[in-house]
Amino acid sequence: MSRLDSFIRRITAQRDCLDRAFALIGDLPGTILELGLGNGRTYNHIREGCPGREVFVFERKVSAHPVDIPDTEHLIEGDLFETLPGALSRIGQSAALAHIDIGSGRPERDARIAAFISAELPALMAEAAVILSDQELDLPGWTVRDLPEGVAPGRYFFYSRGL
Ligand SMILES: C[S@@+](CC[C@H](N)C(=O)[O-])C[C@H]1O[C@@H](n2cnc3c(N)ncnc32)[C@H](O)[C@@H]1O
Repeated sequence: MSRLDSFIRRITAQRDCLDRAFALIGDLPGTILELGLGNGRTYNHIREGCPGREVFVFERKVSAHPVDIPDTEHLIEGDLFETLPGALSRIGQSAALAHIDIGSGRPERDARIAAFISAELPALMAEAAVILSDQELDLPGWTVRDLPEGVAPGRYFFYSRGL
């Protein structure tokens, strides 16, 4: 497969998983958390797909397209290892959906952050909620959901609770 085909497949999978997550949360109450703003593409897609939802973004170093930089209330800047614990008091409402896209391609680093997110993120989530992650998480009590058709296993990880 060419690199272009591989890129298209990855981005298509990301969009299809996000669209599935939007359908799953429907009108459940709660905010949306975006862990890893990057260029802001998925943040943009989330806002388009979930109009009216508050979206809070965690990012270490903002370098997104200017139209996709959240306002200061919704941007939680800094390293996740520092910003995630206790974020609920700042956000004020638990989340219906969290989307995690923080992979670095360095297995040791990614395993460390996945373990940290597994431990800290559930406290920020509503009783009925969805987590979509580029990293495999360890979430006792959460259900592992099937991926949308055509998304290769291991490309994304889908979890829900209370649905
Ligand atoms: C792959 S990019 C996200 C791409 C984004 N979903 C998009 O569509 O443009 C990953 C982002 O996660 C951020 N990130 C990685 N590790 C982080 C950490 N420990 N704390 C905060 N942000 C982190 C990086 O700075 C980077 O911007």
